[in-house]
Amino acid sequence: MLPFAVAFRNTPRGVLVDAVMLQESDVSILFSFTRSYFHVDLERVGEAVLFLHSIMPVKPVSELFTVLGRAKQGKTERFREIFRHLGATKDHFVRAPGERGLVMACFMLENFDVVFKVIRDQFPAVKNVRREEVMAKYDLVFRHDRAGRLVDAQEFRDIRLPRKRFAPDMLAELTGECALNVRVDGDDVIVNHAYVERRMTPLNLYLRTATPEQAELAIMEYGQAIRDLAYTNIFAGDLLLKNFGVTRHNRVIFYDYDELCRVTDCRFRDLPAATSDEDEMRAESWFYVADNDVFPETFLQFLGFEGRLREVFLEKHGEILEAGWWRSLQERLHSGDVVEVLPYHPHRVRVASSA
Ligand SMILES: Nc1ncnc2c1ncn2[C@@H]1O[C@H](COP(=O)(O)OP(=O)(O)OP(=O)(O)O)[C@@H](O)[C@H]1O
Ligand SMILES: [Mg+2]
Repeated sequence: MLPFAVAFRNTPRGVLVDAVMLQESDVSILFSFTRSYFHVDLERVGEAVLFLHSIMPVKPVSELFTVLGRAKQGKTERFREIFRHLGATKDHFVRAPGERGLVMACFMLENFDVVFKVIRDQFPAVKNVRREEVMAKYDLVFRHDRAGRLVDAQEFRDIRLPRKRFAPDMLAELTGECALNVRVDGDDVIVNHAYVERRMTPLNLYLRTATPEQAELAIMEYGQAIRDLAYTNIFAGDLLLKNFGVTRHNRVIFYDYDELCRVTDCRFRDLPAATSDEDEMRAESWFYVADNDVFPETFLQFLGFEGRLREVFLEKHGEILEAGWWRSLQERLHSGDVVEVLPYHPHRVRVASSA
């Protein structure tokens, strides 16, 4: 059995077959947790899910319901999957690998593919956001075109998890730093509010063990993710590698939403040239910087790419470091020019070139 998915395109010349997908991995990307829901009008969703599951046996049923626009059923199924895993194993809730979030406390169930993200009670001063604003950003992502680059975050309220399955340090962090959201009730831990997301390999960790070839591909994907988001009017905000994850199809996805905003709401600026040596030496900027000012020329300083990876990034995605590129994209977005981000790029190129 082979999957067989056909993408049709409506054009002035009529309907074209834009791509044919025959591989499980290609179809899987189509029904990905990084894309907006399909909202298909189906008489019996359950049967469609069973059929899709037969094509993509690795994809959890919960995600299939979700991507078909049945968000509530998707949550119910996810909850069941979590409890089935708890019942079938002795696994614990432990801290998610990678850098600790300043805004979010992240934990996961061992050997299970999701992370739970709980908003901390307080954020350090560098994070100039309030909890409601953080939630508003997640909400924006929920409604916005996710373009295959933003992880789906399911919002759960009042979930009850078995206390004895928590690693002690994780429980201490949650009850200590997220007390507004987490409390212990007898044998249970009650989480008032959490986002549940598919777990990926944080890009900073991925690069540590990747072969040079894998690392290069990941960096190209990273740049493409920033572009795909930009085309759909999203500026990720915090571009550090720790905020991106690598999927099992080696796609790079963004998951840290607290600084995300619309491209058209930012002011992309060139760095003003220093007028004196003194200015140049100052630790802080000598010119006024507003909250929504972005200086693309400075991105590279934060990323810490060296050698070959730096070259690859500059070669493929150097434009991302130019304020002018962002400003002209803003113009296109303002004029209503829709830049399509399709879930089957390589196929399109192949079909187009052989036509
Ligand atoms: N979907 C995910 N898959 C795997 N790991 C994740 C995921 N989401 C978060 N993490 C891990 O948790 C860390 C913190 O998550 P996130 O970046 O969302 O929180 P934050 O508090 O907004 O971070 P920051 O301090 O950068 O603003 C990440 O750096 C990563 O290591
Ligand atoms: Mg982060």
